[in-house]
Amino acid sequence: MIAFSVDTSTCLSCGACVKDCVGQALTMHNGYPAMSREENCIGCQHCLAVCPVGAVSVLGRTPADCLPLEGALPGPDTMTALVRGRRSCRQYRQEDVDRATLDQLFTAAQYAPTGVNARKLWICTLDTLTSLQAFREEVYARLAELDAAGAIPDDRRAQVFRAAPRLWREKQVDVLFRTAPHCVIVANAKDAPCPTQDPIIYLSYFELLAQSWGLGTTWCGLLYWCITLFLPDVMQRLGMPDGYELSYCMLYGKPAVHYPRSVALPAPDVHRVQWAGR
Ligand SMILES: Cc1cc2nc3c(=O)[nH]c(=O)nc-3n(C[C@H](O)[C@H](O)[C@H](O)COP(=O)(O)O)c2cc1C
Repeated sequence: MIAFSVDTSTCLSCGACVKDCVGQALTMHNGYPAMSREENCIGCQHCLAVCPVGAVSVLGRTPADCLPLEGALPGPDTMTALVRGRRSCRQYRQEDVDRATLDQLFTAAQYAPTGVNARKLWICTLDTLTSLQAFREEVYARLAELDAAGAIPDDRRAQVFRAAPRLWREKQVDVLFRTAPHCVIVANAKDAPCPTQDPIIYLSYFELLAQSWGLGTTWCGLLYWCITLFLPDVMQRLGMPDGYELSYCMLYGKPAVHYPRSVALPAPDVHRVQWAGR
């Protein structure tokens, strides 16, 4: 049974919660909102969020658990600076990000939307420098072993995975991890309504949040392909549950590079259409 309660001493009976309920799970009953079709509730908590007087609690959450939003949202200038100013970091400081920052970062990223509010993402992070270093050494060592055994194909896509261990060993050039001290690895349940979309949305939010904390991030397709093609057992060793699939990887940490300006991209090629109807 879904916990849903209304403080009738403050409820305005305005129906805002009923109107905003995506599944029509709520109806007005004796002048107050009530959960009448709980099988339709997807747990989005819009009823709690939209109430003008904070009279609604749902799923064990009360208005006191929520973030007050009046005057708290960033304006377009701040958001534009963040989106235009975020960069892929490939020079990191060799130190840990403090625990409190990471806790706040992961807590906020949790608010990224998932299709049908499924919230099935499995999120894993190597969030200490020593852990990432050990992971990196093993990845490069195993790629070198696979290459020596002739197990890495000679095609263009795989070339980088043959070269990477050598570049690391001989020149300390870190092609796969870009010197990052931490990484986040996201998987989604194969039966999630949006198995490919949810993780990318999550990481997109994570990236912007991380960069707002002054951290660097790097989308890491190379690590994704490395694990997918050559080291799939890594996911089980990281603890990924059965029925899940690796989605993507992102490196992060304190940057050792500063960008005083954004790049300058061409104007967007957006096709503005006036639909004429049939
Ligand atoms: C899906 C995706 C995968 C990426 N994979 C890698 C990667 O494996 N290694 C890397 O150094 N950069 C990677 N990048 C970063 C891109 O190269 C980078 O976004 C692009 O060069 C533009 O630079 P900017 O992000 O600083 O604007 C990836 C970016 C995306 C979106």
